[in-house]
Amino acid sequence: MRLKASTVITVFLFSGLILLTQVAAEEGYQLIAREIHNQYRAIHHVSALNSDEDLHNRAVMCAQYYATIRTINHSCPFKNGAGENLWAQRGGNPTNDDVARNSSNSWYSEEPLHNYNAQFTPATGHFTQMVWKNSLNFGFGVARLNFGFGLGNMVVGCALYSPQGNVIGQFQDNVIPP
Ligand SMILES: *[C@@H]1O[C@H](CO)[C@@H](O)[C@H](O)[C@H]1NC(C)=O
Ligand SMILES: *[C@@H]1O[C@H](CO)[C@@H](O)[C@H](O)[C@H]1NC(C)=O
Repeated sequence: MRLKASTVITVFLFSGLILLTQVAAEEGYQLIAREIHNQYRAIHHVSALNSDEDLHNRAVMCAQYYATIRTINHSCPFKNGAGENLWAQRGGNPTNDDVARNSSNSWYSEEPLHNYNAQFTPATGHFTQMVWKNSLNFGFGVARLNFGFGLGNMVVGCALYSPQGNVIGQFQDNVIPP
């Protein structure tokens, strides 16, 4: 954050457009999540996801929203039509990088359960969104809630994808066997 602030001041002198792209830098944990996604997507013969600043910002807002309501029920009002994968953990003190790794790996762990001949397999919806061919842009956010009173904490990871995946009727075209 300190680095970014100085970058902003410097580039502001030159151009508002450059300022926007500098502020829009992908955070390290967001890059970790995207790279893990892209390693798995390569196994399924689909293109890498692009970093999307608007989706990163929305994913952070959604993670904060779910931490506030203390449940991950896909009701975030800031998704703007994007597909969404959610992950939550109670207890422990994972860093943002830990959340990026563990959420992404847990979503992919559904792969052995997937029926590649089916439209939507209920147990594999995180996996199918992750490797969905037509999803091209990616955002990732983390938020924490401390319950107070010694009751521990909750950590939320949220990934957003556009265009949205898991479209009934399009599974065979978008979820490619390894
Ligand atoms: C999600 O949970 C919140 C808080 O409990 C609740 O107000 C909301 O109605 C739920 N939304 C859905 C779609 O289940
Ligand atoms: C991440 O997942 C691994 C494997 O399930 C687990 O051993 C580890 O404790 C997790 N890390 C955190 C910080 O929760």
